[in-house]
Amino acid sequence: MKKILAFSILAITIILTLPVNAQDSSRDDVESKITQLLSEMTIEEKVGQMTQITLGMPTRKDKDGVLEFEMDSLRIALLDYHVGSILNTAGVAHSLEKWHEIITTIQDVSLKESRMKIPVIYGIDAIHGAGYTLGATLFPQSIAMAATRNLELMEKGAEITAYETRASGIPWNFNPVLGMGREPLWPRHWETFGEDVYLTTQMGAAYVRGQQGGNIGDPTRVAACLKHYLGYSIPTSGRDRTPALIPERTLREILLPPFQKGIEEGCLTVMVNSGEINGIPTHSDSYVLNDILKGELNFQGFVVSDWADIRRLHSRDRVADSPKEAVRMAVMAGVDMSMVPTDFSFPILLAELVKDGDVPESRIDDAVRRILRVKFKLGLFENPYPNKSLSENFASEESNSANYKAASEVITLLENEDNTLPLSKNAKVLVTGPSANKLSLLNGGWTITWQGNVERLYPQDELTILEAVQEKIGKENVTYVEGVDFEKDINSADAIKAAENVDAVILCLGEPTYCETPGNIDNLGMSESQINFALEIAKTGKPVILVLVEGRPRVISKIVPHMEAIIMAYLPGMKGGEVISDVLFGDTNPSGKLPFTYPNGVNGYTTYDYKPVLNHRDIGFSAQWEFGHGLSYTTFNYSNLSLDKGEYLMDDTIQISVDVKNTGTVNGKESVELYVTDLFGSVSRPVKQLKRFEKIELKPGELKTVQFEIDKNDLSFFGRENKRITESGEFIVALGDQKANFFIK
Ligand code: BGC
Repeated sequence: MKKILAFSILAITIILTLPVNAQDSSRDDVESKITQLLSEMTIEEKVGQMTQITLGMPTRKDKDGVLEFEMDSLRIALLDYHVGSILNTAGVAHSLEKWHEIITTIQDVSLKESRMKIPVIYGIDAIHGAGYTLGATLFPQSIAMAATRNLELMEKGAEITAYETRASGIPWNFNPVLGMGREPLWPRHWETFGEDVYLTTQMGAAYVRGQQGGNIGDPTRVAACLKHYLGYSIPTSGRDRTPALIPERTLREILLPPFQKGIEEGCLTVMVNSGEINGIPTHSDSYVLNDILKGELNFQGFVVSDWADIRRLHSRDRVADSPKEAVRMAVMAGVDMSMVPTDFSFPILLAELVKDGDVPESRIDDAVRRILRVKFKLGLFENPYPNKSLSENFASEESNSANYKAASEVITLLENEDNTLPLSKNAKVLVTGPSANKLSLLNGGWTITWQGNVERLYPQDELTILEAVQEKIGKENVTYVEGVDFEKDINSADAIKAAENVDAVILCLGEPTYCETPGNIDNLGMSESQINFALEIAKTGKPVILVLVEGRPRVISKIVPHMEAIIMAYLPGMKGGEVISDVLFGDTNPSGKLPFTYPNGVNGYTTYDYKPVLNHRDIGFSAQWEFGHGLSYTTFNYSNLSLDKGEYLMDDTIQISVDVKNTGTVNGKESVELYVTDLFGSVSRPVKQLKRFEKIELKPGELKTVQFEIDKNDLSFFGRENKRITESGEFIVALGDQKANFFIK
């Protein structure tokens, strides 16, 4: 095995140092190998490559619940139906060794027993770490990572996730989610990077770089998957997999840029939106898939369907009058691989469609070429088996500390009346609320199981909020009473009584663990049991510090005035307990900034980049906290905002600088955020938009000059003709409380 590793590292080094024309020839070489393979493959073998099934299909659980292959079923899948891809974990996370056994068994059949000997590409949802491998490093979820505003931490986290996924023998990860988090009811809000286009674009790009690296043949990297293309995240009803109405301008200006950037970063795969846009289910939308993705964006990788979504064109959306027509529509719209995933209907129907002349073989060849290209790029032909030597650095100390760093920059201090925080380490505290003592709630979905809610499977050596607080100030100083759960009272009277004997209450509220459709809600408000409990606890007169552990902003306007301090933890991952406790007691100075606008009412959600009409007369924009809000234990002063000119020509670069000083008494990190307002536009323009950010660290008294450059692309939008344009006129740039105007001639 060592030899193979040494060989592939040598191969990578050679490729990386190859001159450009040699890289071209290695690309040509791959393409000609694919041409050769295609010329030898039967229709059945080709449509098999386009088929993905779930691991549950060829396996069963033995009497002790241990997953094992039914070899006959596996052979039917791989040898009779020539299946090219398998996904999922079939229930719960497996050990590294079990994954090695699973992948090896699959590749053995495909490589040793099949005619074409094409490796299977295995795919998994490793969305905040290799969550389906036991003991993996589990980072904050994406919404929380967006709060760090730290691209280095994002890239590092994605790199470690790639490593641990690959160490499990799995070369393909169904992440990042690049839908915009602009509809907080949507139960997958926490899988996004929040509501801002620029932030999502930058975070997504950093994620792809971390996953795929400079050279995707690197055996410690994986293929990433941009999902769910396009428009999945803003369903009109707020419910998962329901229709969206999206004007062309919004589609192109708000939803497309993160995908475009991900493709520019070389992302190898894209997964389709499970829902529909303007009445057209995306799995059948040739405009979105063929014209925009493969045409305009020149995407060369492959497009995978989402779970069972081709069949649903018939059974759910009824745009196809038979399952066969559904297959035809999806393949002709540009879907290259079907996540079927529980039967062989797709390859059977597709082979018939080709034989009947309803799907041209050239379309099949194109899809298979794309899939084989990714398999070649990933090095699967040379190295299809798990590389066991990677186990050594799986969940290493270094990865653990990268996770801690990421989590500590997540925490966002929303309120801190009279500097209630940090608490003294001599304080006696009551820790209470449903989120106080569960690791599952810190991690959320896609963790160990799909819903992430099987608490007993979580690693015992990681700390909940309660345990971390106990460790910090001593068990004897901490009283714990659960109080309420998400639905009902448990022992709130005991909690209220216990509050009498402490200096402060740490009240941990939020949401249960959920994922996808089971997380649908009808009301964005925080549950009544929790709101009532918070009000009762506040009546004790003790300072209450509210810690929010939630994947979407649940409305808490009734209780905000009664809380002395409020911390937003989002879904901070496995280190969440520790970093929350470190922030509470001042060992970490919080530096997160909200990646979404926290609403103060359950209806009429408005993002921070709203239109000017909302500032007009009595309509009014109001929010609990706006996108970008986040306090610190120190203070930062902004001064000397300066631009290199006051007037620019259209093609000029605009150079902007600002001084930021730490005017408080402790070290602090600050995301310096540059917003631009386009004062007048032919289409109504947002009141402001984030265009750049940079996270800096300052010691007390230290000053840094931060420089940014923007150009006409940053000032562009989709005009009345639905084409990207930049208009001349007046703009405002804002950094902290500093503002300056400039003109484009
Ligand atoms: C989800 C995808 C996921 C897929 C495979 C689907 O239900 O929508 O995000 O990648 O399942 O697990």
